[in-house]
Amino acid sequence: MKRVFSGVQPSGLLTIGNYLGAIRNFTTLQHEAECYFCVVDLHALTVPQDPEELRRNTLNTARLFVACGVDPTVATIFVQSHVPEHTTFSWLLECTAYYGELRRMTQFKDKAAKQEVVTAGLFTYPALMAADILLYQTDEVPVGEDQRQHLELTRDLATRLNSRFGPLVKVPEAYIPPRTAGGRIMSLQDPTEKMSKSSQDSRSYVALLDPPDVIRKKIRSAVTDSGREVRYDPEEKPAISNLMVIYSLVSGESLDTIAERYGGSGYGKFKNDLAERVVELVTPIQRRFQELSEPGAIEAILEAGYSKAQPVAAATLQAVQAAFGLVPRGQIRGE
Ligand code: TYM
Repeated sequence: MKRVFSGVQPSGLLTIGNYLGAIRNFTTLQHEAECYFCVVDLHALTVPQDPEELRRNTLNTARLFVACGVDPTVATIFVQSHVPEHTTFSWLLECTAYYGELRRMTQFKDKAAKQEVVTAGLFTYPALMAADILLYQTDEVPVGEDQRQHLELTRDLATRLNSRFGPLVKVPEAYIPPRTAGGRIMSLQDPTEKMSKSSQDSRSYVALLDPPDVIRKKIRSAVTDSGREVRYDPEEKPAISNLMVIYSLVSGESLDTIAERYGGSGYGKFKNDLAERVVELVTPIQRRFQELSEPGAIEAILEAGYSKAQPVAAATLQAVQAAFGLVPRGQIRGE
């Protein structure tokens, strides 16, 4: 059976961009493949975090996976830091990746430009991400378009390991939806920027846990393009095109159907209806999120996830460590 791995950072909230670009695909892939979905708390540490908030956000991100429809009886949901094999393997990959390769990562350059201090962890982040993926002998990685470069590096590192030591890890494929299928949902305030949960301006995204009235307000105040026509044209009408993609994905209707219905009726009605569709999308997610608030419920899911994930990670790591020439502990004792 095909293996799927993906990770989401517990950065406080998840946006409809995270949902449409990645998490929605987790819920379909879980029925076709053996799936591992990880809350990557160690990745979140590459920028400053409040410890109490990080703890809460980690549990809430896992709760959101389940609320969005990831079934913990089918897919494995776990926390990255619970499986120490991730960091151990990451070091070996840091010693495999080149400085120049990591320096070229556009996410590093973008994020570093926004930080007052740039940690070494922010720089080596893609090696940890590669470790996440390669430990599970992953075939496919469902992510948004912003992760494409990290996936390419992961493939390069996998190929490098295999050519140095013989077949050790699967070379994974990225599973990135086209733009019209959610691969890159743009900011509601600036259609040239991707929608980002770390944006300072909360009007630029819709969070999955935003109350309905907040969602209505954010969508009504989303920037639009000149003219009045609702038409899919990413070059000339990037803002409306982005809203149309969101509409299409939350309603299941084609861009043509939407253009036909709203083409001549101006932006107002289109935005009002879009807001209602987004509210319809998040309402059941929010209800399920509340249902999972019982103390211990999500912790039990994560514990079961750990039990399934750790042995898989350990098997890969053991083979990799042996290939690098690290002496297994038992042999030292047996001398
Ligand atoms: P993160 O936490 O930033 O985002 C989680 C997922 O959401 C996707 N995404 C989007 N998709 C479409 N439009 C958007 N505006 C948008 N914003 C975010 C991301 O592409 C991602 O799929 N480095 C990863 C986390 C990670 C990971 C991994 C992913 C760590 N290890 C191993 C896959 C496999 C990240 O920061 O995602």
